[in-house]
Amino acid sequence: MTAKATAIAPANIAFIKYWGALDLAEAIPVNPSISMTLARCLSSCTVEHRPSGRDEVTIASSDGGLQDAPAAFARRILEHLERLRSAAGVRGSFRVATRNSFPSAAGLASSASGFAALTLAVTRALGLELPVRELSVLARRSGSGSAARSVLGGFVQWPAGENADDCYAVELAASDDWDVRDVIAVIDTEPKRVSSLEGHGRAASSPYYEARQNLLPGRIRAVRDAIERRAFGELGPIVEEEAVDLHLIAMSSRPPIFYWKPSTLEVMRAVRAMREDGLDAYFTIDAGANVHVLCLPEAEPEVVRRLEALSGVRDVLRDRVGSGPRISQEHLF
Ligand code: DP6
Repeated sequence: MTAKATAIAPANIAFIKYWGALDLAEAIPVNPSISMTLARCLSSCTVEHRPSGRDEVTIASSDGGLQDAPAAFARRILEHLERLRSAAGVRGSFRVATRNSFPSAAGLASSASGFAALTLAVTRALGLELPVRELSVLARRSGSGSAARSVLGGFVQWPAGENADDCYAVELAASDDWDVRDVIAVIDTEPKRVSSLEGHGRAASSPYYEARQNLLPGRIRAVRDAIERRAFGELGPIVEEEAVDLHLIAMSSRPPIFYWKPSTLEVMRAVRAMREDGLDAYFTIDAGANVHVLCLPEAEPEVVRRLEALSGVRDVLRDRVGSGPRISQEHLF
Protein backbone atom coordinates (compact mmCIF):
# COMPACT_ATOMS: atom_id res chain seq x y z
CA MET A 1 0.00 0.00 0.00
CA THR A 2 1.20 3.53 -0.68
CA ALA A 3 0.13 6.60 1.24
CA LYS A 4 0.66 10.21 0.34
CA ALA A 5 0.50 13.41 2.39
CA THR A 6 1.33 17.06 1.77
CA ALA A 7 2.33 19.52 4.47
CA ILE A 8 2.91 23.26 4.24
CA ALA A 9 5.17 24.79 6.88
CA PRO A 10 6.26 28.40 7.38
CA ALA A 11 9.66 29.95 7.90
CA ASN A 12 10.28 31.79 11.15
CA ILE A 13 12.31 34.83 12.10
CA ALA A 14 14.27 34.69 15.36
CA PHE A 15 14.02 37.56 17.85
CA ILE A 16 16.55 35.79 20.09
CA LYS A 17 18.87 33.69 17.96
CA TYR A 18 19.95 30.07 18.16
CA TRP A 19 23.71 30.43 17.73
CA GLY A 20 26.00 27.81 19.25
CA ALA A 21 25.20 24.18 20.02
CA LEU A 22 25.85 21.87 22.96
CA ASP A 23 25.45 19.00 20.54
CA LEU A 24 25.61 19.97 16.88
CA ALA A 25 24.50 16.61 15.45
CA GLU A 26 21.41 16.62 17.66
CA ALA A 27 20.89 20.41 17.33
CA ILE A 28 20.79 20.97 21.08
CA PRO A 29 21.22 24.73 21.54
CA VAL A 30 23.38 26.41 24.14
CA ASN A 31 20.79 29.13 24.65
CA PRO A 32 17.01 29.44 24.37
CA SER A 33 15.70 31.20 21.28
CA ILE A 34 12.45 33.04 20.55
CA SER A 35 10.91 33.50 17.11
CA MET A 36 7.88 34.64 15.21
CA THR A 37 6.41 32.18 12.73
CA LEU A 38 5.74 33.76 9.33
CA ALA A 39 2.60 33.48 7.21
CA ARG A 40 3.79 33.75 3.61
CA CYS A 41 7.31 32.36 3.39
CA LEU A 42 6.29 28.73 3.07
CA SER A 43 7.68 25.34 2.13
CA SER A 44 5.36 22.70 0.70
CA CYS A 45 6.32 19.05 0.82
CA THR A 46 4.58 15.99 -0.57
CA VAL A 47 5.70 12.58 0.67
CA GLU A 48 4.63 9.19 -0.56
CA HIS A 49 5.49 6.08 1.44
CA ARG A 50 6.07 2.99 -0.69
CA PRO A 51 6.58 -0.64 0.40
CA SER A 52 9.95 -0.98 -1.35
CA GLY A 53 12.41 0.82 -3.64
CA ARG A 54 14.81 3.68 -3.01
CA ASP A 55 14.15 7.12 -1.58
CA GLU A 56 13.68 9.80 -4.23
CA VAL A 57 13.97 13.56 -3.68
CA THR A 58 12.78 16.16 -6.19
CA ILE A 59 12.10 19.88 -6.32
CA ALA A 60 8.75 20.97 -7.70
CA SER A 61 8.64 24.07 -9.89
CA SER A 62 5.67 26.43 -10.04
CA ASP A 63 4.63 25.00 -13.46
CA GLY A 64 4.15 21.58 -11.85
CA GLY A 65 7.36 19.97 -13.16
CA LEU A 66 9.71 17.94 -10.94
CA GLN A 67 13.52 18.18 -11.05
CA ASP A 68 16.20 16.22 -9.23
CA ALA A 69 17.23 18.03 -6.07
CA PRO A 70 20.84 19.38 -5.93
CA ALA A 71 23.13 16.76 -4.35
CA ALA A 72 23.89 18.55 -1.04
CA PHE A 73 20.23 19.36 -0.46
CA ALA A 74 19.13 15.81 -1.35
CA ARG A 75 21.73 14.34 1.01
CA ARG A 76 20.34 16.23 4.02
CA ILE A 77 16.80 15.15 3.15
CA LEU A 78 17.84 11.52 2.66
CA GLU A 79 19.56 11.55 6.05
CA HIS A 80 16.45 12.93 7.68
CA LEU A 81 14.25 10.33 5.96
CA GLU A 82 16.48 7.63 7.43
CA ARG A 83 16.13 9.21 10.88
CA LEU A 84 12.34 9.41 10.58
CA ARG A 85 12.11 5.84 9.28
CA SER A 86 14.00 4.52 12.27
CA ALA A 87 12.09 6.76 14.76
CA ALA A 88 8.78 5.44 13.36
CA GLY A 89 10.08 1.86 13.14
CA VAL A 90 9.01 1.42 9.51
CA ARG A 91 10.57 0.06 6.32
CA GLY A 92 9.98 0.97 2.71
CA SER A 93 10.97 4.07 0.79
CA PHE A 94 9.79 7.65 0.43
CA ARG A 95 9.18 9.71 -2.65
CA VAL A 96 9.55 13.40 -1.78
CA ALA A 97 8.88 16.65 -3.64
CA THR A 98 9.40 20.10 -2.09
CA ARG A 99 8.78 23.67 -3.12
CA ASN A 100 9.49 27.01 -1.47
CA SER A 101 7.49 30.17 -1.94
CA PHE A 102 10.61 32.29 -1.37
CA PRO A 103 14.38 32.37 -2.22
CA SER A 104 16.05 29.29 -0.74
CA ALA A 105 19.07 29.28 1.54
CA ALA A 106 19.44 33.07 1.54
CA GLY A 107 18.97 33.74 5.21
CA LEU A 108 15.23 33.30 4.91
CA ALA A 109 15.18 30.11 6.99
CA SER A 110 14.25 27.85 4.09
CA SER A 111 15.72 24.86 5.88
CA ALA A 112 13.54 25.49 8.96
CA SER A 113 10.33 25.54 6.91
CA GLY A 114 11.57 22.78 4.61
CA PHE A 115 12.42 20.34 7.38
CA ALA A 116 9.29 21.18 9.36
CA ALA A 117 7.19 20.44 6.25
CA LEU A 118 9.14 17.26 5.48
CA THR A 119 8.79 15.97 9.05
CA LEU A 120 5.07 16.63 9.16
CA ALA A 121 4.44 15.16 5.68
CA VAL A 122 6.40 11.96 6.46
CA THR A 123 4.54 11.37 9.73
CA ARG A 124 1.17 11.93 8.03
CA ALA A 125 2.11 9.69 5.08
CA LEU A 126 2.79 7.02 7.69
CA GLY A 127 -0.63 7.62 9.21
CA LEU A 128 0.79 9.14 12.41
CA GLU A 129 -0.72 12.17 14.14
CA LEU A 130 1.99 13.16 16.57
CA PRO A 131 1.69 15.72 19.35
CA VAL A 132 3.38 18.98 18.39
CA ARG A 133 6.18 18.51 20.92
CA GLU A 134 7.19 15.23 19.25
CA LEU A 135 7.07 16.86 15.83
CA SER A 136 9.28 19.63 17.19
CA VAL A 137 11.86 17.12 18.46
CA LEU A 138 11.83 15.23 15.14
CA ALA A 139 12.09 18.44 13.08
CA ARG A 140 14.98 19.63 15.29
CA ARG A 141 16.85 16.37 14.65
CA SER A 142 17.08 17.29 10.96
CA GLY A 143 20.13 19.29 12.09
CA SER A 144 18.39 22.52 11.11
CA GLY A 145 17.52 23.26 14.72
CA SER A 146 15.28 26.23 14.00
CA ALA A 147 12.90 23.77 12.28
CA ALA A 148 11.89 22.85 15.85
CA ARG A 149 10.17 26.29 16.01
CA SER A 150 8.52 26.11 12.57
CA VAL A 151 6.08 23.36 13.64
CA LEU A 152 4.26 25.98 15.74
CA GLY A 153 2.48 29.21 14.90
CA GLY A 154 2.58 32.62 16.57
CA PHE A 155 5.43 33.53 18.91
CA VAL A 156 7.56 30.57 19.89
CA GLN A 157 10.25 29.77 22.43
CA TRP A 158 12.67 26.89 22.01
CA PRO A 159 14.48 26.33 25.31
CA ALA A 160 18.10 25.25 25.63
CA GLY A 161 18.30 21.62 26.60
CA GLU A 162 20.56 18.90 27.90
CA ASN A 163 18.23 16.05 27.09
CA ALA A 164 17.80 15.36 23.37
CA ASP A 165 14.32 13.82 23.73
CA ASP A 166 13.05 16.71 25.75
CA CYS A 167 14.26 19.69 23.75
CA TYR A 168 11.23 21.05 21.87
CA ALA A 169 9.65 24.41 21.13
CA VAL A 170 6.49 25.79 22.73
CA GLU A 171 4.07 28.58 21.85
CA LEU A 172 4.34 31.80 23.87
CA ALA A 173 1.44 33.61 22.16
CA ALA A 174 -0.84 32.81 19.23
CA SER A 175 -0.76 34.59 15.87
CA ASP A 176 -4.16 36.15 16.65
CA ASP A 177 -2.80 37.72 19.81
CA TRP A 178 -0.58 40.29 18.14
CA ASP A 179 -0.39 41.37 14.48
CA VAL A 180 3.32 41.98 13.91
CA ARG A 181 4.57 42.52 10.35
CA ASP A 182 7.89 41.44 8.85
CA VAL A 183 8.92 43.37 5.75
CA ILE A 184 11.86 41.50 4.25
CA ALA A 185 14.46 43.40 2.26
CA VAL A 186 15.94 40.83 -0.11
CA ILE A 187 19.52 41.77 -0.89
CA ASP A 188 21.01 38.48 -1.89
CA THR A 189 19.38 35.33 -3.24
CA GLU A 190 22.56 33.26 -3.48
CA PRO A 191 23.03 30.45 -0.94
CA LYS A 192 25.23 31.63 1.93
CA ARG A 193 28.86 30.57 1.72
CA VAL A 194 29.12 29.48 5.36
CA SER A 195 26.23 27.39 6.68
CA SER A 196 24.55 28.02 10.02
CA LEU A 197 25.82 24.60 11.07
CA GLU A 198 29.38 25.77 10.53
CA GLY A 199 28.55 29.02 12.35
CA HIS A 200 27.20 27.20 15.44
CA GLY A 201 30.41 25.19 15.51
CA ARG A 202 32.61 28.30 15.43
CA ALA A 203 30.53 30.48 17.78
CA ALA A 204 32.37 29.65 21.00
CA SER A 205 35.71 30.68 19.43
CA SER A 206 34.60 34.34 19.49
CA PRO A 207 36.01 36.35 22.41
CA TYR A 208 32.55 37.96 22.73
CA TYR A 209 30.65 34.70 22.99
CA GLU A 210 30.53 34.64 26.79
CA ALA A 211 29.46 38.26 26.95
CA ARG A 212 26.40 37.49 24.83
CA GLN A 213 25.59 34.41 26.91
CA ASN A 214 25.61 36.59 30.03
CA LEU A 215 23.24 39.11 28.42
CA LEU A 216 20.77 36.52 27.17
CA PRO A 217 18.75 35.70 30.33
CA GLY A 218 17.81 39.39 30.69
CA ARG A 219 17.06 39.70 26.96
CA ILE A 220 14.86 36.62 26.97
CA ARG A 221 12.88 37.89 29.96
CA ALA A 222 12.42 41.26 28.27
CA VAL A 223 11.32 39.76 24.92
CA ARG A 224 8.82 37.42 26.61
CA ASP A 225 7.48 40.30 28.64
CA ALA A 226 7.17 42.55 25.56
CA ILE A 227 5.28 39.80 23.69
CA GLU A 228 2.96 39.27 26.63
CA ARG A 229 2.20 42.99 26.89
CA ARG A 230 2.31 43.60 23.11
CA ALA A 231 4.85 46.32 23.80
CA PHE A 232 6.41 46.82 20.36
CA GLY A 233 8.56 49.77 21.43
CA GLU A 234 10.19 47.55 24.05
CA LEU A 235 10.56 44.49 21.82
CA GLY A 236 12.22 46.25 18.87
CA PRO A 237 15.42 47.61 20.47
CA ILE A 238 16.24 44.25 22.10
CA VAL A 239 15.65 42.35 18.87
CA GLU A 240 17.95 44.76 17.02
CA GLU A 241 20.67 44.53 19.65
CA GLU A 242 20.47 40.73 19.60
CA ALA A 243 20.76 40.60 15.79
CA VAL A 244 23.88 42.79 15.86
CA ASP A 245 25.40 40.57 18.58
CA LEU A 246 24.82 37.43 16.51
CA HIS A 247 26.79 39.00 13.67
CA LEU A 248 29.42 40.37 16.05
CA ILE A 249 30.03 36.80 17.21
CA ALA A 250 30.08 35.48 13.63
CA MET A 251 32.52 38.20 12.51
CA SER A 252 34.84 37.56 15.45
CA SER A 253 34.74 33.74 15.26
CA ARG A 254 37.85 31.92 14.18
CA PRO A 255 37.84 31.81 11.21
CA PRO A 256 35.48 34.78 10.92
CA ILE A 257 32.16 34.77 9.04
CA PHE A 258 30.81 37.90 7.35
CA TYR A 259 27.19 37.49 6.31
CA TRP A 260 26.48 41.18 5.68
CA LYS A 261 26.74 42.80 2.26
CA PRO A 262 27.14 46.58 1.77
CA SER A 263 23.37 46.81 1.14
CA THR A 264 22.67 45.14 4.49
CA LEU A 265 24.18 48.23 6.12
CA GLU A 266 22.22 50.47 3.77
CA VAL A 267 18.99 48.89 5.05
CA MET A 268 20.09 49.05 8.70
CA ARG A 269 20.76 52.78 8.27
CA ALA A 270 17.43 53.28 6.54
CA VAL A 271 15.62 51.61 9.45
CA ARG A 272 17.36 53.93 11.92
CA ALA A 273 16.35 56.88 9.74
CA MET A 274 12.74 55.63 9.76
CA ARG A 275 12.76 55.82 13.55
CA GLU A 276 14.21 59.32 13.51
CA ASP A 277 11.19 60.23 11.38
CA GLY A 278 8.81 58.70 13.91
CA LEU A 279 8.21 55.39 12.13
CA ASP A 280 8.37 52.50 14.57
CA ALA A 281 10.45 49.85 12.78
CA TYR A 282 13.33 47.61 13.87
CA PHE A 283 15.60 45.26 11.96
CA THR A 284 16.81 41.75 12.56
CA ILE A 285 19.10 39.59 10.42
CA ASP A 286 19.62 35.81 10.46
CA ALA A 287 22.70 34.10 9.06
CA GLY A 288 22.60 35.89 5.73
CA ALA A 289 22.58 39.35 4.15
CA ASN A 290 18.81 39.92 3.98
CA VAL A 291 17.17 42.21 6.50
CA HIS A 292 13.84 41.60 8.22
CA VAL A 293 12.17 44.85 9.25
CA LEU A 294 9.60 44.38 12.00
CA CYS A 295 6.77 46.85 12.40
CA LEU A 296 3.09 47.15 13.29
CA PRO A 297 0.39 47.18 10.55
CA GLU A 298 0.00 50.98 10.48
CA ALA A 299 3.69 51.49 9.70
CA GLU A 300 3.94 48.76 7.05
CA PRO A 301 3.06 50.71 3.86
CA GLU A 302 5.66 53.40 4.58
CA VAL A 303 8.29 50.81 5.58
CA VAL A 304 7.69 48.99 2.26
CA ARG A 305 7.87 52.26 0.31
CA ARG A 306 11.16 53.27 1.89
CA LEU A 307 12.76 49.85 1.47
CA GLU A 308 11.71 49.67 -2.19
CA ALA A 309 13.44 52.99 -2.80
CA LEU A 310 16.86 51.64 -1.73
CA SER A 311 19.22 50.83 -4.58
CA GLY A 312 20.65 47.65 -3.03
CA VAL A 313 17.29 46.05 -2.29
CA ARG A 314 16.32 43.57 -5.02
CA ASP A 315 12.90 42.69 -3.72
CA VAL A 316 10.63 43.48 -0.78
CA LEU A 317 8.53 40.66 0.70
CA ARG A 318 5.63 41.52 2.96
CA ASP A 319 5.11 38.93 5.62
CA ARG A 320 3.47 38.77 9.04
CA VAL A 321 2.98 36.52 12.01
CA GLY A 322 1.33 33.27 10.92
CA SER A 323 -0.55 30.38 12.44
CA GLY A 324 1.87 27.52 11.74
CA PRO A 325 1.91 24.44 9.50
CA ARG A 326 -1.06 22.74 7.90
CA ILE A 327 -1.94 19.68 5.88
CA SER A 328 -2.97 20.27 2.27
CA GLN A 329 -4.82 18.11 -0.24
CA GLU A 330 -2.93 19.78 -3.11
CA HIS A 331 -0.14 17.31 -3.73
CA LEU A 332 3.00 18.25 -5.65
CA PHE A 333 2.88 14.97 -7.62
C1 DP6 B 1 20.87 32.63 12.63
O1 DP6 B 1 20.94 25.56 12.34
O2 DP6 B 1 18.50 26.20 12.40
O3 DP6 B 1 18.84 31.67 11.81
O4 DP6 B 1 19.71 25.19 9.08
O5 DP6 B 1 20.25 27.49 8.28
O6 DP6 B 1 17.99 26.99 9.24
P1 DP6 B 1 19.46 26.65 9.20
O7 DP6 B 1 19.99 27.09 10.59
P2 DP6 B 1 19.88 26.56 12.07
O8 DP6 B 1 20.29 27.92 12.79
C2 DP6 B 1 19.53 29.07 12.75
C3 DP6 B 1 20.43 30.24 12.91
C4 DP6 B 1 19.77 31.60 12.87
C5 DP6 B 1 19.11 31.97 14.18
C6 DP6 B 1 17.79 31.32 14.48
O9 DP6 B 1 16.97 31.10 13.59
O10 DP6 B 1 17.55 31.10 15.68
